[in-house]
Formats: sequence, structure tokens, C-alpha cells
Amino acid sequence: MAAASRRLARALYSAVAKPLLFAAYPDDAHKLTLRAAGLMDRLPWLARVFAQEEQPLRPTTVGGVTLPQPVIVAAGLVKGQGFETEDAALSAVGRSNVIPGWRSIPLMCGPVEFGSFTLAPRVGNAGTVLWRDVNGLTTMNRVGLKNPGSAAAAEFLSRQPIDGTFGISVATTPEVDDPTVQAAHVAQAIGRFIEEGVRPDWFTVNLSCPNTEQDPTATQTTALASAVCAATVERAGTVPVWVKVSPDLGDTQYDSLLEVFEDNGVRAVVATNTLPGIVPSTDIRAGAGGKRLYERALSVVLRLYAVRERRSYSVDIVGCGGVMNGVDLRAYLDAGALAVQVWSALVFRGPFAPEDITREYLEILKEGQS
Ligand SMILES: Cc1cc2nc3c(=O)[nH]c(=O)nc-3n(C[C@H](O)[C@H](O)[C@H](O)COP(=O)(O)O)c2cc1C
Repeated sequence: MAAASRRLARALYSAVAKPLLFAAYPDDAHKLTLRAAGLMDRLPWLARVFAQEEQPLRPTTVGGVTLPQPVIVAAGLVKGQGFETEDAALSAVGRSNVIPGWRSIPLMCGPVEFGSFTLAPRVGNAGTVLWRDVNGLTTMNRVGLKNPGSAAAAEFLSRQPIDGTFGISVATTPEVDDPTVQAAHVAQAIGRFIEEGVRPDWFTVNLSCPNTEQDPTATQTTALASAVCAATVERAGTVPVWVKVSPDLGDTQYDSLLEVFEDNGVRAVVATNTLPGIVPSTDIRAGAGGKRLYERALSVVLRLYAVRERRSYSVDIVGCGGVMNGVDLRAYLDAGALAVQVWSALVFRGPFAPEDITREYLEILKEGQS
């Protein structure tokens, strides 16, 4: 029954949803996707028709978490609406679905990283914020940390029975330079989830959001990382903490950051966030994901893994950047990652991408043995 309904869901996606989404502008396609996800949140029976099988495809332990499969939906999809103020966000919690996809995406796609949430709500950048290059399998975005803020997100998620494995990504506050203040912000944001009884499988600190106009370069100094990691690990208690880094740092900066993560009890590093660049034929700055990021993110994983091994560190590595199929997944796992996160693959291959990528990888392994 489950397999038959999943087949029906795939047929519906290919025949109806995919052509609609690809006919729309990327911003509109994104809004449509979230509207559909939000609708399915309210119709759990429908979300279950589309749901991935409950049987884990390939159990994987990474960064203190056991996942049913090594492919996770990356931060940025299930992150919620933007608001001007905390009061506005909190008052919307009882009235509307402020985090569309909270139920349907974990059911359909497997493990998900929610967020990134900042301490206070943010409306994000105005104008066009998303681009896609279908032939080059690349996405670009300048969403700019649009989210309801940690108080409303925590309040909302505390009311929902989330079915599945999920992490919560908390981002630094773009306007804040002082490491002590930044550490206090992130710890306070994490504390709000804990105080509301929301227990994710992991927290990720997003040190690396390059797309806000207030902090386009997303500074990741060791002083900032030390202060933020120490405060976060302490506040997260028994929940493992991961940290997400940018793809455009210098080699020695990665080495120093990994040392900071190891020294502060961070369990995994997510490599990487999007690659800063210019949207083709415009002068707009945005972050690239998908194939344009692939080689760069993979080389960061290789670098981090080499340092980890040389220094006998215990921080695990989660790859993120341009994973589109089982071959890409294998490349990341061979490079030393234990799991990967995907965003662009969902755009180009749809909601079944995490399952399909895992199955393709398992096929490759089987072929290798025969
Ligand atoms: C629209 C959009 C929003 C994103 N928002 C976030 C975010 O809030 N936090 C974060 O850590 N990464 C965010 N990302 C980055 C992704 O999580 C991921 O690191 C990046 O897209 C690279 O993966 P990919 O090559 O599979 O797309 C976002 C990406 C996109 C396309």
C-alpha cells in the first residue's frame, strides 16, 4: 500500500507539479511549493500518502545523531515566514502555519534541518531572491534569513507533534560584530527551543549566511566561532551541536575553525553554505548552490577530513553542495563526509530526491560488490 501510494505521488509530481513549478519564476515556484507543503501539514492523511517508507534506507550515525538515511534536507526550506517584530510573529503562531512544511517535508523527504532561525524575526531581502539555472543544475538565492524568529518558531514547534528526524538551525545575528554579544544571541535563541520543550535531534549553528545585506561576507573568525560554540554547546545540553561554514574561506582558516569546533565539543561541521557570487547577466550578489558549488564544497570536505584525521579529532563532517545523485553522494562519502545535506536537488529532482539519491548510492555499492 505504502509503495503504491508513493508511486502515485511520484506520478502526480511528474505530471502536474513539476511542469507547473518549472513554468513559474523561481520565486513563485518556491512560494507554490511552500503553499503545497503548508496545505499538506494540515492534511496529515495526504502527507502520509506521499510519505517515504518508514523502514530506514541506510541507517547512518553522524555528529551524535542516528539518521534513517545519509541524505538530509538542508536548512532554508522549512524556515517559516518573515515578520517585522516578535509580537507580530508570536501573535501569528496561534492563527496560522508560520513554518510551512513542518509536518509534510519530514514525512516526504526524510531527515530535515529546520531554520535557520535568528534570535529576532527577520523579513529577509526585498525583490527577487531566487534564481535557477536548469541546464547548469545551479540555484542562487539572496533570501537573507527571512524567518519568524526563535521565540515564535519555538512556540510554534512546541505545539506540533513532529514525526521524524529533525535538526534546528540557528543563525548568528547579521548586524552583531562583538563575539560575546553574538554568543549570547545564539545561546538565547537555542534556549528558547529548549525552554519550550522542543527537542531536535541536533542544533546547527549557521555561522555562514552570506546573503543578508547587513553582513554580506558572514565573518567567521576564530574569536567569534569560539565564543558562539562554547555558549551554544553549553546551552544545548544533551542535544548535539553542529556548525555550518562557508565555502570560500582560506585553508588555514578551516584548520583553525576545526580546532575551535573540536575544543568546544561541536559534534559535526556542515560544509558548506552557498558560494557568494553574481547572478549571471545582472549585478546582483547572491549565493550559489547546486553544481556551481559542488567542486568547492567537496574540496572543503576533503580539507576538513584530512585535518580531522591528522589531528585525531572527533568532529564529524556533513557535506553540502551540489549533491544531485548517488554518484555525488558517493564522492562526498569517499571524501570523508558521513552524510550530506541537499537543497538544489529538491528543486531539480523534486521531493523524492533524498530517497532516490540514497537508493542510487546503494545500487552503486551493490554493483561494486557484484
Ligand atoms: C532559498 C534558500 C534558502 C537558504 N536558507 C538557508 C538558511 O536559512 N540557513 C542555512 O544554513 N542555509 C540556507 N541555505 C543554503 C542551503 O542550506 C545549502 O547550504 C546550499 O543551498 C547548498 O546546497 P545545495 O548545493 O544542495 O543547494 C539556503 C539555500 C537556498 C537555496
